[in-house]
Amino acid sequence: MRPLKFALAFCVVLAVAAGILAIIIARWPAIAPIAPPAANSFDPASVKRGAALVAIGNCDVCHTAPGGRAFAGGRAVPTPFGSIYSTNITPDPETGIGRWSKAAFQRAMRFGVRRDGAYLYPAFPYDHFTLVSDDDDNALYAYLMTRTPVRAPPVPDRLPFPLNIRLVMSGWNLLFLHPGPYRADAAHDAAWNRGVYLVDGLGHCGACHTPRNLLGAERTDLKFSGGEVEGWTAYALNELSPAPVPWNAAALRHYLRYGWEDSHGVARGPMAEVAGDLHLIPADDMRAIAMYVAEQMNHAAPERDVVVQGVERQHQRGQSGAAASGDGQANALRATDTKNDEGAVTYAGACAGCHEGPRALPDGGIDLMLTSAIGGPSANNLVNIVLYGLPATEAARAPIMPGFAGAMNDAQVAALVRYLRARFSDKGPWTDIAKSVHDARSRARFPAASPASVVEPTPSGTAQQASQ
Ligand code: HEC
Ligand code: HEC
Ligand code: HEC
Repeated sequence: MRPLKFALAFCVVLAVAAGILAIIIARWPAIAPIAPPAANSFDPASVKRGAALVAIGNCDVCHTAPGGRAFAGGRAVPTPFGSIYSTNITPDPETGIGRWSKAAFQRAMRFGVRRDGAYLYPAFPYDHFTLVSDDDDNALYAYLMTRTPVRAPPVPDRLPFPLNIRLVMSGWNLLFLHPGPYRADAAHDAAWNRGVYLVDGLGHCGACHTPRNLLGAERTDLKFSGGEVEGWTAYALNELSPAPVPWNAAALRHYLRYGWEDSHGVARGPMAEVAGDLHLIPADDMRAIAMYVAEQMNHAAPERDVVVQGVERQHQRGQSGAAASGDGQANALRATDTKNDEGAVTYAGACAGCHEGPRALPDGGIDLMLTSAIGGPSANNLVNIVLYGLPATEAARAPIMPGFAGAMNDAQVAALVRYLRARFSDKGPWTDIAKSVHDARSRARFPAASPASVVEPTPSGTAQQASQ
């Protein structure tokens, strides 16, 4: 028996070694540079279609640095391993993709490989973009190659050894990349397939909404169970959705198009940028996206419906209470039961005036009973909002909610957050509030949701100016 076992082990070792060797040898060739094509050589209809596709893929969001020129790159995309900087995808021949052929562009989208044959990192979500059809890749290419060329050399990445060797991505691709394009599932209709194609492909919703494994790949077994991105929690979009009122396709359509929805609130942080792009996409595409996402969420457990009905009842009562009492009286009533809680006092003084007031969304604050921010898995989003507020929407020129970073110290924020969780959700207390507050403070202002100047009113007599 012994020799047989030995022979087997030997074969396994040999196979693994051969596999590793194959990976190292199987490099992609460089694709020859081309003379930059003239902008007028592209079909205007294709360019126009490309504009909508760019919006679904958020190419502009990642490839534009804060305050920088569109598509010129240089924005840091943080990963648990270090920051990777987006590249210049304007048609500049020296520093952009001006010398990339259509084939080179398509290979980058489908396989995550650069024109010169080097591997790209999945901070560029090619594990999703691989599903994009040849036709759509061509339209994206047409759009990008007709932008204004910008000279902007690449910013060096900040990755530790051995991740700074791009070749290691060949192993990652072998494990986690399932090359496209998308193949329609004949068991479903065209609209459903369009939804999957856009959500899992170009829209790369899972890049933020699906948790990742230790190697930074999305957990396919936990698709849409919620993820972390730039200090924000991207809520679950499946049956684990923390939304007090369940989402349906109509609510999703409104939220994704306008960045807010009556019974769910506003899109903040990185999601604000996603929604900021999605108002540009065709109505049919939006319908397909919303339908597919709603389907993912609607496998809710039956006991959830009971909770939800309770929330809706309470919310309606709150609204009619506020309407009947005119101004802030309902707030006072609601807050009396917890008079001695520091968080309750802060809420009554600094928040209730707007969040229990008569103004409608998006300029008026939502009843906090309805927001996923309080029933969600971490305090991160709530803390981000309290500290830094919310920037203006298209409907309002001023920030719609002021930040309280300068007006409250960490202990006050923590007390407030603890109180809100207890009062406005049916979930147990968060255990890591102090860490959320500390992390949010140390990130300073996140670019996505910080207005140029954060207005800091004196919230109430109870929250003194804290030194930072
Ligand atoms: C989540 C952020 C993100 C989004 C969204 C994104 N990219 Fe990128 N992209 C990156 C990063 C980061 C890199 C650089 C990766 C690297 O250096 O390995 C990159 C690299 C590229 C490259 C390779 C260019 C080069 O010079 O190496 C192309 C082409 C590209 N992106 C096109 C697109 C297109 C088209 C879209 C929209 C459909 C898009 N990207 C959306 C982050 C993003
Ligand atoms: C760049 C990361 C990112 C991408 C890409 C992204 N999201 Fe989000 N999403 C977030 C974050 C972060 C939040 C939480 C924002 C907040 O608190 O307002 C969020 C919130 C949401 C919500 C609200 C959930 C709730 O219960 O309140 C919905 C719905 C949603 N996203 C759908 C989508 C869809 C559909 C896509 C793809 C088209 C998508 N997201 C792509 C980061 C992202
Ligand atoms: C000047 C009015 C104003 C004040 C004061 C204010 N908010 Fe807001 N808040 C808003 C508006 C407007 C929005 C955006 C609409 C919405 O989502 O409720 C918002 C959004 C929020 C959200 C996101 C809700 C969601 O899911 O969309 C939370 C959470 C929140 N505020 C908490 C607070 C807390 C806690 C305080 C007190 C420290 C506070 N707000 C003070 C106006 C205000």
